Amino acid sequence: MSFGKILTLSSGTPMPQIGLGTWLSKPKEVETAVEIAVRNGYRHLDLAMIYENQIEVGAALKKVIPSVVKREELFITSKCWNSSHQPAEVEKELDETLKQLGLDYVDLYLVHWPVAFVPGNGLYPPHPEKKGQVALDLETSLVDTWKAMIALPKSKARNIGVSNFTIAYIQGIIDATGVVPIVNQIEAHPLLPQEELVAYCKEKNIHITAYSPLGMNSIGVKLLTEDPVVQEIATRLGGTPAQVLVAWGAKRGQSVIPKSVQEARIISNFQQVELSEEDFNKVTALGNAGHVRYNIPYRYNPSWDISLFDDPEEAKATYKVKIA
Ligand SMILES: NC(=O)c1ccc[n+]([C@@H]2O[C@H](COP(=O)([O-])OP(=O)(O)OC[C@H]3O[C@@H](n4cnc5c(N)ncnc54)[C@H](OP(=O)(O)O)[C@@H]3O)[C@@H](O)[C@H]2O)c1
Repeated sequence: MSFGKILTLSSGTPMPQIGLGTWLSKPKEVETAVEIAVRNGYRHLDLAMIYENQIEVGAALKKVIPSVVKREELFITSKCWNSSHQPAEVEKELDETLKQLGLDYVDLYLVHWPVAFVPGNGLYPPHPEKKGQVALDLETSLVDTWKAMIALPKSKARNIGVSNFTIAYIQGIIDATGVVPIVNQIEAHPLLPQEELVAYCKEKNIHITAYSPLGMNSIGVKLLTEDPVVQEIATRLGGTPAQVLVAWGAKRGQSVIPKSVQEARIISNFQQVELSEEDFNKVTALGNAGHVRYNIPYRYNPSWDISLFDDPEEAKATYKVKIA
């Protein structure tokens, strides 16, 4: 069985390039999906407290450790949710994640979003006055949270990083602490290549994990697997459109974490195809008509009334991120 390509993070930790995404995987589905994935060669799992399915992921891990893999052969990422950004909350939530997963440590722990919610009132604390909005914590800064991440015992979080961070946010936490995140996990696909951010991260030796590599499955738009250019390349290479999109991210040196709960897709998404320079450029050109960011929490329900990316879609948001 092939276990796929292994990348090396700036810390020296090996990271399998293709991982299984688990956002929107329902609890029962995720348990089967993780088990199928590991039995078919996946060694990298992308998890988060907010996906509310880590207990079931933990149940799957019990079925495969140690009978199929040793714990140390897996690379497990999880993420600190917004309602635990306060320094006193960060390690508590990590402990809860470890308990849910039945593990002693995660290989990578990320700050999920560059925004804090008020703690102690659930994962989406309702705003006390503004209906349909979450209650933001406008006091806790990114630097406060990053310092708490740095203070986490290495025995529980082997590597630390961020997610959905822009250049300004990353630079802000580096300036304040001197500690460079090992990874930035960002939305990245042909319609949102994020070239400037990717170049900045490369210069700082921050590894990029590309999320939503197939497009966006939560807002009713077509996945990029439906794109005729992607489909033509897939047919010619004897692969699937999803494999072409995964290969596009992989050719950029990124780790890629497609989500599926369907056995045949879980298996085929992991089987890599090679893109020629010409095909890579054809896929890249899909973004020429303009870039599209799908994941904008200002548009969520409940809404986060904050501009995270300075995207035009966020123009009406009231608040900006408190970096330091
Ligand atoms: N850090 C963050 O803020 C953040 C945000 C978003 C995502 N993520 C992570 O990144 C992972 C991937 O992103 P994503 O879930 O947004 O989107 P994605 O992996 O790009 O796409 C998932 C969608 O594609 C479908 N799909 C999977 N394989 C397919 C195939 N071979 N052909 C056609 N359709 C296929 C899935 O349906 P089926 O399940 O029915 O196959 C699902 O609807 C997430 O699961 C999560 O772990 C992180």
